[in-house]
Amino acid sequence: MDRRRFLRDLLSGATVAALGPALLRGGQALAGDPAEFAAGLRERPWLAGWRQVRAEAFGPTTVQVEGRLPEGLAGTLYRNGPAWFERDGFRYEHWFDGDGMVHGWRLGDGAVTHRGRMVETPKFRRERTAGRFNTLAAGTTVPDPVPIRNNDDANAANTSVAVIGGRLFALCEAGSAFELDRDALGTLGPATWRPDLQALPFSAHPLQNRDGSWWNFGALALMGGGGLLVWHIGAGGELIGAHVLELDAPGYLHAFVQTDRHLVFLLMPFDYTPAGSFFESMSFAPQRACTVLVVDKAAPDRVARRFEAGFAAVYHFGDAFERDGEIVVRAVHHTDPAEARSPMHEAMRGHDGRRTPARLAELRLDLRHGRARWELHGESDIEFPMFDPRTPGDRGARLYMPATAGETAAPYFNAVQGLDPATGRREVHRYGRDILAEEHVFVPRPGSDRPDDGWLVGTLLDPVRDRSGIAVLDARRIGDGPLATAWLPYAFPLGFHGHFHAG
Ligand SMILES: [Fe+2]
Repeated sequence: MDRRRFLRDLLSGATVAALGPALLRGGQALAGDPAEFAAGLRERPWLAGWRQVRAEAFGPTTVQVEGRLPEGLAGTLYRNGPAWFERDGFRYEHWFDGDGMVHGWRLGDGAVTHRGRMVETPKFRRERTAGRFNTLAAGTTVPDPVPIRNNDDANAANTSVAVIGGRLFALCEAGSAFELDRDALGTLGPATWRPDLQALPFSAHPLQNRDGSWWNFGALALMGGGGLLVWHIGAGGELIGAHVLELDAPGYLHAFVQTDRHLVFLLMPFDYTPAGSFFESMSFAPQRACTVLVVDKAAPDRVARRFEAGFAAVYHFGDAFERDGEIVVRAVHHTDPAEARSPMHEAMRGHDGRRTPARLAELRLDLRHGRARWELHGESDIEFPMFDPRTPGDRGARLYMPATAGETAAPYFNAVQGLDPATGRREVHRYGRDILAEEHVFVPRPGSDRPDDGWLVGTLLDPVRDRSGIAVLDARRIGDGPLATAWLPYAFPLGFHGHFHAG
């Protein structure tokens, strides 16, 4: 596709459609109520996971480690998540709307040092000055939004982080990667990989290739048209390519998955009836099939294979592998498509509510016969799966993910588990009734190339003692519990995703 056509597709479809609703909408407010949330929090301390952060910055704070950090584990776990939910008596209803706070947990020399800082996006700065939310949000109708020029004017930079080419980025679904200072976490600004690609979406789930380069996508389709943008960034952070894949119909996707040879995109069908924010206007269409696009990494400008698969509401994937003419994709399948549109909706309002379980499923793509089918795994109530990327590409990986075990105070995870979906072998560590457990990142042991030889580094919230913490486990001895745990003298809300940068 030539450059002019490329830009025309992007500008005519995506950007205009994304901005239109914000400009045209009236002043109807459907927000949550901070007082209602505060009342709920008094009854249910676990709602601290969705409480407004108390400060724009934390630390640096050094705390002693309980237990012992393993020899060889040194680096920083960066994490991101929505943290700023309220202004001027107005509370976001949707978890994905809060402005991002990035955390750096530095591990080494027997101690843990934490620092956290709000990402200073144009949105955050403008609203701080105004003293109110005044910008289009993903899931809450904000009254009287100001006009915005592009997606980055509304970017909350709140979903994930990645270190690409030595640079730290805060990532969000619908806008640019925002570069941060790796130590102080100060915001440097949005990344522009090439001038004509300014402000185009760079998803929160980039995938690193075995050669060190990065693949990512930008979901232009979810903004109303224009296709799917495929990014390829070199190991040094330089742009290798940006290509637009044409789509027959818009589909929603939050993440994607790779094998050694292919990229796989699962597009979920949805209906869109303008009614405020994106997530208020869309509903998944489980009566229609998902479209699966398979792209050959050697030819990322076109779709190599296209499949139809039964509907599934999926945000996150585990691994994928390719064997005997088949691609197998591990995915977390949300059983309630309506709830999947706004996870932890009741908690955001200060209510109790139960979470509908999500379960592990395998999508099997038969490359010879062009057929796709789902196989449901028995494992339920999990999310945020991680794995050792050194696992050979012709077999499934062991998955590491938060889970629930035994009694829980919160409708959230309180444990971490390792699971081999092929054998069903499972190992669990339960943190306790009151602890909320987040994603656990796999960190390979330096100098070792044996798959699963390494550690899990995961973050925790203890709402009873009002503190956030971090735990390190041996990935092959999860049942033994943490090798090291460190608790901060303060707490902040739960986040979504992290990235461990060694060194
Ligand atoms: Fe995510």
